[in-house]
Amino acid sequence: MSQHDDKRRRLLGRLSRQFAYTAPVLALVAGGAALQATAGNTSTEAGFAPVTEATLLLASNHGEAEAEGEAEGEAEGEAEGEAEGEAEGEAEAQSSDAVQRPDGYTPGYSETDANPQELLVRGEELYYDTSLSTNGLSCASCHGSDGQDMGYKATFEQPFPHRVAMASDQFGMPEVHADEMVQVCMVAPMEAEPLEWEGEALQSLSAYMVEVQRRFAGETHDL
Ligand code: HEC
Repeated sequence: MSQHDDKRRRLLGRLSRQFAYTAPVLALVAGGAALQATAGNTSTEAGFAPVTEATLLLASNHGEAEAEGEAEGEAEGEAEGEAEGEAEGEAEAQSSDAVQRPDGYTPGYSETDANPQELLVRGEELYYDTSLSTNGLSCASCHGSDGQDMGYKATFEQPFPHRVAMASDQFGMPEVHADEMVQVCMVAPMEAEPLEWEGEALQSLSAYMVEVQRRFAGETHDL
C-alpha cells in the first residue's frame, strides 16, 4: 500500500517536471508560428488564425500524449528497476547509454579546429529539418533560425566539452561533447531515436553546433 503511494508520488513528481519543461517549449512553438504568420502573411487575417490554432492544438495534444507515454514508460521502467533493485537511481535520471559516445567511436568533426564547409552546409540543412523528430519540431523550432541562438544558456559560451544543465539533470552526464548534446536533444525534446553515431547526419549537425557555439561566444566562426 505505502509502496504504491510512493510510486505514485514519484510518478507525479516526474510528470510535473516533464510539464515544467514542456510548457516553455509550447510557448516557443506557438510564438514562432505567430511570428511566421505575421511576417509571411500580408493579405487577410483569415490566413493567420488557422495557423495559430492548429499549432496550439497540435501543441496541446502533444502535451497530453507525452504525459501518457511518460506514465507508461515510468511504470515499465520502475517494474524493471525494482526487479533489479535499482528503483532509486531511476527516478533521478535516465540512462545515458543512448546519448554517450560509444566505445571505439571516432568523431568525424572537430571541436578545436575548423570544420569542412560541406559538413556545415549539411548541418545547417538538418537543423531546420522537422523529419528528424517525431513531434514536428526541428532544432530551429526551439533554438531559432540563423543567428538567433535561442534557448542556450551561459554554459554554451564554453567550447565543447562542457556542462549542460539538461544533460546533467536528465542523463546524469557531468559534461558533454557536441555530438552527445545533439543526441540528448534528439532523444529528449525531439522525442526521436538517437542518430547513427558515425553517420553523416550526426557528424554534420555536431560540426554545425561547434560553429554555432563559436558564434554564440563571440568568437571567429565559419557560419
Ligand atoms: C523542444 C525544444 C528543443 C529542441 C527541438 C531542440 N533543443 Fe536543443 N536544447 C533545448 C533545451 C531546453 C536545451 C538546454 C539548455 C541547457 O540545459 O543549458 C538545449 C540545449 C542544446 C544544446 C546545448 C547548448 C550548450 O550549452 O552546449 C545544443 C548543442 C542543442 N540543444 C542542440 C540541438 C539540436 C542539434 C537540436 C536538433 C536535433 C535541438 N537542440 C533540438 C531545447 C531544444
